[in-house]
Amino acid sequence: AEAPVVLTLSTQAAGPTISRHLFGQFAEHLGTGIYGGVWVGPDSPIPNVRGIRKDVVAALKALRVPNVRWPGGCFADKYHWRDGIGPRGRRPVTLNPDWGGVEESNAFGSHEFLDFAQQIGADAYLSINVGSGTVAEASGWLEYLTSPNGSTLARERVRNGARAPFKVAMLGIGNETWGCGGSMKPEEYAAELKKYATFVLNHHPAQQQAPNKMLRIASGPNQGDERFTDVVMSHWKDHIYSWGMEGLSLHSYTGIEKWPPSHPSQAFGVDEYAAVLRNTLDMDGYVRRHAAVMDRYDPERKVGLYVDEWGAWYAPLPGSNPAFLQQQNSQRDALIAALNLNIFMRHAERVRGANVAQMVNVLQAMILTSDRGIVLTPTYHAFRLYIPFQDAERLPLAFEAGDVVLGDVRLPRLDAVAARGRDGQVWVALVNLDPAQSLAVELAAEGGAVGAQGEVLAAPRFDSVNSFERPQQVVPRPVAVRAEAGRVRLTLPPASLSVVALRR
Ligand code: AHR
Repeated sequence: AEAPVVLTLSTQAAGPTISRHLFGQFAEHLGTGIYGGVWVGPDSPIPNVRGIRKDVVAALKALRVPNVRWPGGCFADKYHWRDGIGPRGRRPVTLNPDWGGVEESNAFGSHEFLDFAQQIGADAYLSINVGSGTVAEASGWLEYLTSPNGSTLARERVRNGARAPFKVAMLGIGNETWGCGGSMKPEEYAAELKKYATFVLNHHPAQQQAPNKMLRIASGPNQGDERFTDVVMSHWKDHIYSWGMEGLSLHSYTGIEKWPPSHPSQAFGVDEYAAVLRNTLDMDGYVRRHAAVMDRYDPERKVGLYVDEWGAWYAPLPGSNPAFLQQQNSQRDALIAALNLNIFMRHAERVRGANVAQMVNVLQAMILTSDRGIVLTPTYHAFRLYIPFQDAERLPLAFEAGDVVLGDVRLPRLDAVAARGRDGQVWVALVNLDPAQSLAVELAAEGGAVGAQGEVLAAPRFDSVNSFERPQQVVPRPVAVRAEAGRVRLTLPPASLSVVALRR
């Protein structure tokens, strides 16, 4: 048998904190992402609390979602918050031009969103309308939500059922302003950003001091557009008086080499497996290069990089409305999640947040819903396995595992990250990218280990999915380990993710 790949782990040297916000989620008014997926209304036969699905809330609570970004996406720059407050029966019906032109009932508005965020225990990340809104509209929205005082807007919120002000932890200032958010040049966006960042204020008394202050996250580049980052960061560098930003976003999807996306989300072969995984690994270069541009203007790393849209974007499911971005989710997606989360953790010095697209029923979803119930996807299980990495301290890890060659695609055989969790334990996440061969590994930790426990997410095939008919095809199972002379050995199944804690 081949000698195991040895992973050498330093447990002393302290790395940066891996912000829990790297494990954030994104929920847009798109297809059945909100309506049907989260919101069914208080009169629905589907069990709900104030209109929000109980099954979905329970699953998301178990995932410890740190923050949820809403209402878009492209939808955010067409959203007018006043349409979504007050008695639901009197709210206007508007249209959702980006996502099939469907009618938007506005039944799920600010109060419903903040109720949902509270029910799942997540911070609210609000995306404000820069493209078709005004500074006054956005500043009124924040006053309405966060002001405790007797201003007319605060009183209106109280009349609408919320006596206490809401907390808004993160504020996204526009979305994809180079595209659906207004087709702006970076210079044009920078001018808008300064106004919004100056005048859209959070009034919540508990959010006036660091570290509780609301984070302002500028709309940033798409994939490799470093000029966008350069221009926005150069404006930030020269900031005067009160405008500032704490984050810059980056969007990068997997699998869109040409438009429209054509990779199938299920029933695919090894070529597809390899091409899509190769593509997702480009995230590392994007993050690295944008971080290098940011370093030039912000060597102290005051501004974080927030990858607030990432995930796999495949061909729509046959027979579905293509504008609803419905796709299946396979074991390959669990690996995509793990590889991207590993990249973010390896760049935790600069990457302070990330939001997978999207939470329910849309793109690389955690959960698929129907009137009958829910299905937890392989991506859901990957996110659950990563919970110990939330706010953990990254630890140095070294290994040499070589590559696996699949046709004309070369992939690293192994990807891994180690960290000391908030629970004091040393955690290691290991991805075996080889679709056919298992991989024996040996964890050699400073100070030794007497064992390890954890879970492995493997599947009958790399394109296995969970469906309503077979919801348990891909689920984590306890991992088998062997300890010898202070080292821990385990075998990683083909195309698998393992997360283990060392026993020391
Ligand atoms: O997540 C789907 C869409 O992708 C978002 O609305 C937009 O921001 C991005 O282009």
